[in-house]
Amino acid sequence: MGELLRRMLEECEGRFVSGQEIGRRLGTSRAAVWKQVQALRRRGFGIEGARGAGYRLLGLPDLIEEKELFSRLSRPDFWKALVFFPVTDSTNSRAAELAGKGAAHATVVCADAQTSGRGRLGRKWESPPGVNLYLSLLLRPPLDPVKAPQLTLVAAIALAAAIEDVSGLRASLKWPNDLFLSGRKAAGILAEMAADPDCLRHVVIGVGLNVNAESSGFPAELREKATSLKISAGRPFRRVDVLARFLDSFAECYGAFMSGGFKALLPEWNRRDALLGKRVLLRHGLEEDRGRALGVDDSGQLLFRREGAHRTVKVASGEILEFER
Ligand code: BTN
Repeated sequence: MGELLRRMLEECEGRFVSGQEIGRRLGTSRAAVWKQVQALRRRGFGIEGARGAGYRLLGLPDLIEEKELFSRLSRPDFWKALVFFPVTDSTNSRAAELAGKGAAHATVVCADAQTSGRGRLGRKWESPPGVNLYLSLLLRPPLDPVKAPQLTLVAAIALAAAIEDVSGLRASLKWPNDLFLSGRKAAGILAEMAADPDCLRHVVIGVGLNVNAESSGFPAELREKATSLKISAGRPFRRVDVLARFLDSFAECYGAFMSGGFKALLPEWNRRDALLGKRVLLRHGLEEDRGRALGVDDSGQLLFRREGAHRTVKVASGEILEFER
C-alpha cells in the first residue's frame, strides 16, 4: 500500500505536496491519502504533515527490498531467490529448513532482525532490527564434504572485498570466520552443512555484518571489541547497497573457488590476514596452545607453530582465543 504516493513524495525531493493535489493525482479521497501516509510511516518513511501545506518526505527507511536488490546486482543470474523475513529466529535455521524442502542452490535468506541469531561455538549473535545485515546463503556445490569448510573463508574474502568497495575501509580477516575493521570485529560467518559420508547435500553460509549499529547498541561486554561499518567509517550505509555488493562479490569468489580451488583466492586471504606471523592462543579440540600463526595453506587450513616447536602443523578447525595486535 502507498507505492504511488511513495514515488510521488520521492519525486518532490522534500518539497510539500498538498493532500488535495495528491488525491487528484492518485484519484482518491483525502481520507484515503491520509491512510496511505500512515501506512508508509509504519514502514519507516519519515513523512511530515503540515496543515495547509500537505505532506513532504523527510527520510527513507533503510529497507531491503527484493526488486531494488536485484536491480543493483551486476550478476543477478547467479542468485535464484531471495527470501526475506522482517523477523525470524535465525536465517541459518530458515535456510536449512528451505533446503530440506528442496530450495534451489544460490537461495538467499535475509532478515531484518533475528530472535535467536547464533554464532560459532553456540554463542549468541546480537541481531537488532533496522540496522545490520543477517543473511544465509544456501548452496549446493558439487564438492567433497571435506572441502566445505573452505567456503567459510571464501565468504569472508568476498565480504571483505565488498566492504572495502562500499566504504573504502580496510578489512582484515581472522581465521577462520571473523572480519575486523580497525582492530574490532564487524562481522562473523557461521557455515553449517548437511552431508552424507561422501556427498555434500547442502551448505548454509550465515553472515552477520554490523552495518549501522551504534556502539551504545552493543551489550556492555562487546562495546570494546565490536564495531560496525558506520562506527568505523563515520557515516551510515544503506543495507541494500552493502548486500548487493556482497552478493556480487560472493558470486565472483565462488566462481573462482569452484574452478581453481581455494588456491585461486589465497592471495586475497593473505593480504588481509590479521594473524600472519602473530603470536596467538589457539583452541583446537580440547587443547589450548600458544604459538605463532604462519598463514593459511591452499586448502584453507591454519599453519601454526607451537611455542618452542620446530615443526609447523596444519589446523583444520579451531578458534583463536587471543592474538597479538
Ligand atoms: C560468529 O562470528 O560466531 C558467526 C556469526 C554468524 C551470525 C550470522 S547472522 C545470520 C546467520 N544466522 C544466524 O543465526 N547466524 C548467522
